[in-house]
Amino acid sequence: MCGIIGYVGADEVVPVLLDGLRRLEYRGYDSAGMAVMGADEIGILRAAGKLKNLEQKAYHEPLHGTAGVGHTRWATHGAPTEANAHPQTDAEGLVAVVHNGIVENYVSLRKELQEAGVDLQSDTDTELIAQLLGREKGTLTERVLGILPRLEGQYAVVAVYRTEPDVVVAFRNGPPLVVGFGEGENMVASDITALLHRTRRVVFLENGDVAEVRADSVRILDPSGLEVERPVETLDWDAARVEKGGYRHFMLKEIFEQPDAIRNTVLAYLDAERRGVNLDGLGFSAEELSGLRRVHLVACGTSWHACLVGKFVIEELTGLPTEVDYASEYRYRQPLIGGDVLVVGVTQSGETADTLAAMEMAREGGALLATVCNSRGSSSWRLATSRMLTQAGPEIGVASTKAFTTQLVALVLMALALRSVRGLTDATDVELVAELQRLPLAVEQALAIDPELYRDGTEMLADATDSLYLGRGILYPIALEGALKLKEISYLHAEGYPAGEMKHGPIALLQEGFPVVAVAPEGATREKLIGNLMEVRARGAAVLAVSDGDAGGLDHVADLVLPVPRVHPLLQPVVAVVPLQLLAYHVAVELGNDVDQPRNLAKSVTVE
Ligand code: AGP
Repeated sequence: MCGIIGYVGADEVVPVLLDGLRRLEYRGYDSAGMAVMGADEIGILRAAGKLKNLEQKAYHEPLHGTAGVGHTRWATHGAPTEANAHPQTDAEGLVAVVHNGIVENYVSLRKELQEAGVDLQSDTDTELIAQLLGREKGTLTERVLGILPRLEGQYAVVAVYRTEPDVVVAFRNGPPLVVGFGEGENMVASDITALLHRTRRVVFLENGDVAEVRADSVRILDPSGLEVERPVETLDWDAARVEKGGYRHFMLKEIFEQPDAIRNTVLAYLDAERRGVNLDGLGFSAEELSGLRRVHLVACGTSWHACLVGKFVIEELTGLPTEVDYASEYRYRQPLIGGDVLVVGVTQSGETADTLAAMEMAREGGALLATVCNSRGSSSWRLATSRMLTQAGPEIGVASTKAFTTQLVALVLMALALRSVRGLTDATDVELVAELQRLPLAVEQALAIDPELYRDGTEMLADATDSLYLGRGILYPIALEGALKLKEISYLHAEGYPAGEMKHGPIALLQEGFPVVAVAPEGATREKLIGNLMEVRARGAAVLAVSDGDAGGLDHVADLVLPVPRVHPLLQPVVAVVPLQLLAYHVAVELGNDVDQPRNLAKSVTVE
């Protein structure tokens, strides 16, 4: 939720921290701050609102030092004010702390500190960590080890200590932290996007790790203080991929990156002849797979929509009964988990708290555990036995686009792999693999829709306060996704619905000009959908349809048609979502919204 950066090296730290925060701002952006290690005091700057407010402060109140920490916040405890911004300090100003996550024993710790006479300056749980550290004895690392047993909940923390100006200490339990190894400098951050322009050599900290970071060394300890080894990984993402590259917004760039992202995801999992998949039993043994009877797909938000599509794909291609759950629901119900279930956590970030908790539960229940994830080395990546990496590259826009379409593709590839281990492979597989390879071209065509049509579509939606998105069958989840995209970045209310359900309630909303967006490609249910749209028109509502090939009867019922190419029905969701992403984008731009950092949202939801 929040973004954290820490640096120790030879460079002036303020520009390094601001640069890192700029790259992390997508994680949270309601306030920001930094702590800079001076010769004999810690300089603190904090500002409510976007990072640019902190940048201005840093310009007017310059701080100097070569070590420090920075933070960009997504508020949990306390309003997004300057007082609640991070870093938080202890009463003496001895330590400064930045934090991502939630301290769950906040109430009891707060009471204890207040009863001990501590005058708390903020409403945050973060200040409690700083106050606890301030009251401990010893070096910063010793202090951290001392307070670890006192903290309950999910946290990633980076701290500095006035009398050790050349050390930054990071510790985590839940939200991610990654240490970057540079030349004469070392760093720590919430994610690799903040480090890529300085180094590609990283260590992903494990839960319970305490990293003591100096310019020339990094020591990683377990909670008992014993030194532990963690593998140093070399990343293959390059820094240019986290720049806008001439596009007005990251989201627009990412929408247009979809053909490449899909191509890379497909090619990563095809065999040498490119006629079948090469997933080697998804990494499970033949014995484990022989008992497989069911599939559970768990995720949140857009990734959950990918799972809804995945259910159609997996059931049709493998015959395995497939359930889809919101991870936040799955973890609190009693799903029937066992060795005959494959549980797949689908997550762009690999750090979504609910998805991770659902995956943990599946592992404890003895399920085969897999993840479809866009972040190698993330928590879901490390938790799962079987991993499929979506090759979307870094996704910075908070509204997910290329991560979603590559998840759809990965789930098709996973279904093909399951067919192969179940001995079901036949001509269907060869056909689908060929279609998968043609898919990037089809997405390119979908991206090339006449801009004039978007202008008309934008007008229809931007002038309304509500809209309804309809789809049937495998495209019903795309209606949900289209509505979510519009809500997230335009702040207009939109509801996705299976078209057949419309007359059981939402039809009451319809009146003159009410916009209805229909995902209506050719296929088994199109006639039915056209019937639903006639009902819409009969009530004076306006219809915008996404359609493939020949508009068929649609031109009689739709005011506007956004044409997409026809592809294999199991891949149609990938193509059909593209105009809905662009439509949401254009509406948000028209309304003057912050497309990449929409209000109240954060890219990676690391709290429950
Ligand atoms: C997508 O546009 C959203 N920002 C959000 O719904 C997201 O998909 C969800 O929070 C899940 O994230 P994950 O894929 O990183 O687990």
